[in-house]
Amino acid sequence: MKKLWIGTNWKMTKTIAEGIAFTTRLKQISETLPSAIQLFIIPSHTALVPIKEFTSDSSIYLGAQNMHWEDGGAYTGEISPRMLAEMGLDLIELGHSERRQYFNETDEAINKKVHAALAYALKPLICIGENADHKHYHISKETLASQLKISLHGVSKQQAKNVLIAYEPVWAIGEQGVPADAAYVAEIHDFLRQTLIGLFEEVGLEIPILYGGSVNHDNFLEYSKLENVDGLFIGRAAWDIEQFKEILTQLGAQAAQKKSYIG
Ligand code: PGA
Repeated sequence: MKKLWIGTNWKMTKTIAEGIAFTTRLKQISETLPSAIQLFIIPSHTALVPIKEFTSDSSIYLGAQNMHWEDGGAYTGEISPRMLAEMGLDLIELGHSERRQYFNETDEAINKKVHAALAYALKPLICIGENADHKHYHISKETLASQLKISLHGVSKQQAKNVLIAYEPVWAIGEQGVPADAAYVAEIHDFLRQTLIGLFEEVGLEIPILYGGSVNHDNFLEYSKLENVDGLFIGRAAWDIEQFKEILTQLGAQAAQKKSYIG
């Protein structure tokens, strides 16, 4: 069955107590949703262990926001894939634009992290996105192809089955972000699908491509209906659990109707 992946990265927002309150409510909501909706949450590192206790008897996947690629060593302030795998996490978010912008993450570093994640059976959720200049100069597709090809360098077809991609145009993310037109999102997701097929042949058809960047109550349905949009990666509009519930309820109804999501 094809899944619709819906998740939220809390960035540096929620405390442990706030995260537990959110997760407790999300669990109740998840029981009302069709199984075609695959929920995931990505808390801060400090909240992962306590929140794992709440997600372990649910269908909600749990992920971390970043990690180092080494198993261990003298890397003050970092956390390793071995440590994250010990917690029983499902996902690791890699290469979010804020990591690239404020912490100088490169595609080459993300590639090392992708391999480390796969070695520890953590699904890498690789974030890619062009910035406003790339869009202005009409090099969005070149930029995205290069981000995809470098971050996935050396990944086998078999490994690629565990990879997820999140397309998040930098100009659409956060408070200053401008929501993208659905037609633009459709064009880019179709291009990303072709690029993934170029890299992994038929496996490229299976890799979920999520959309993110100012996804909100006005635009989520439009994006989620697009052929090559396999999920939504939501920031601000999902941080209030009751607002997130409104989005989830409507997506649940849509998924129940959509043939491809019910097998
Ligand atoms: P936003 O964040 O939905 O608040 O724009 C998206 C993201 O950074 O993943």
